[in-house]
Amino acid sequence: MKREVNIEDLPGVGPAIAEKLHEAGFNSLEAIAVASPAELVATAEIGEATAAKIINAARESADIGGFETGDKILERRQGVGKLTTGSKSFDTLLGGGLETQAMTEFYGEFGSGKTQIAHQLAVNVQLPPEKGGLNGSAIMIDTENTFRPERIKDMAEGAELDYEDVLKNIHVARAYNSNHQILLVERARELAEDLKNTEKPIRLMIIDSATAHFRSEYVGRGTLADRQQKINRHLHDALRFADLNNAVIMITNQVMVRPDAFFGDPTRPIGGHIVGHTATFRLYLRKSKGEKRIAKLVDSPNLPEAEVVFSVLSEGIRD
Ligand code: GTP
Ligand code: MG
Repeated sequence: MKREVNIEDLPGVGPAIAEKLHEAGFNSLEAIAVASPAELVATAEIGEATAAKIINAARESADIGGFETGDKILERRQGVGKLTTGSKSFDTLLGGGLETQAMTEFYGEFGSGKTQIAHQLAVNVQLPPEKGGLNGSAIMIDTENTFRPERIKDMAEGAELDYEDVLKNIHVARAYNSNHQILLVERARELAEDLKNTEKPIRLMIIDSATAHFRSEYVGRGTLADRQQKINRHLHDALRFADLNNAVIMITNQVMVRPDAFFGDPTRPIGGHIVGHTATFRLYLRKSKGEKRIAKLVDSPNLPEAEVVFSVLSEGIRD
């Protein structure tokens, strides 16, 4: 077996740099191995060359970063877990549920059920695998102040779980602006590290909404490129979290109305192709009659485009 290597053991990392790295949320070799030199330069106040050296050493120790053979990838993919939505037909649409090591985006207009699904997943992740869960805890980055513990209680009871226990395993942080939101993903990394060897490691991270702050802060044509770049990096941070923790990433996204659309659906998701290319699975939600909602799988690496109907009930998401 390999000797346990700590950040402090990496060449070029003295106690002062180690502390700065820890403070910035780089608590494991894996986290450093997948960082960019610019990130370390900014957080640890070191030179570019030192940063590159540290990253390379971390990659070697953590066995990350080079080519992998197909069988190794298959092995890792076999570790992919599936998280139930609470609706059988919805799960079928997704090939069994939301995948770990991936990002699933839910976009749709207000009231289409994005936040309800987020709450449901935070409950379901705590279920054992035989019930469609991942035996884990959830992180929820709440940008619109729409987390409601009362809804968790309803849904926990709907899943025959003790709601007090369930609430204890949902780590909610309110994000006040886009920079804060970006920072919270770093904090999430620390929290996941702390909980890694507990009974309920973090297996789900929700960002609801992933784009709202960016949309309201970056207005005007001149800021678009900057906004897209920030969103892009933010989402890649989240994806990295998915890989490192074998976690599900669930993000929500509003739609905006396109006044220039003459045919078809005049709405499109915010963040456009940037979000679309980062998310592994994209689901478009629409309202139907009463509690009924329609989910359409828009983009997926290996599943056909299809639609299902599901319901938002007081006990949660159902068929
Ligand atoms: P925005 O964040 O505004 O873009 O919308 P969203 O897509 O997040 O919508 P959300 O998930 O908040 O859906 C709100 C809808 O869920 C409400 O209009 C209700 O139809 C339903 N809903 C919310 N709470 C309950 C509840 O306690 N019981 C039932 N039966 N339905 C609920
Ligand atoms: Mg919402």
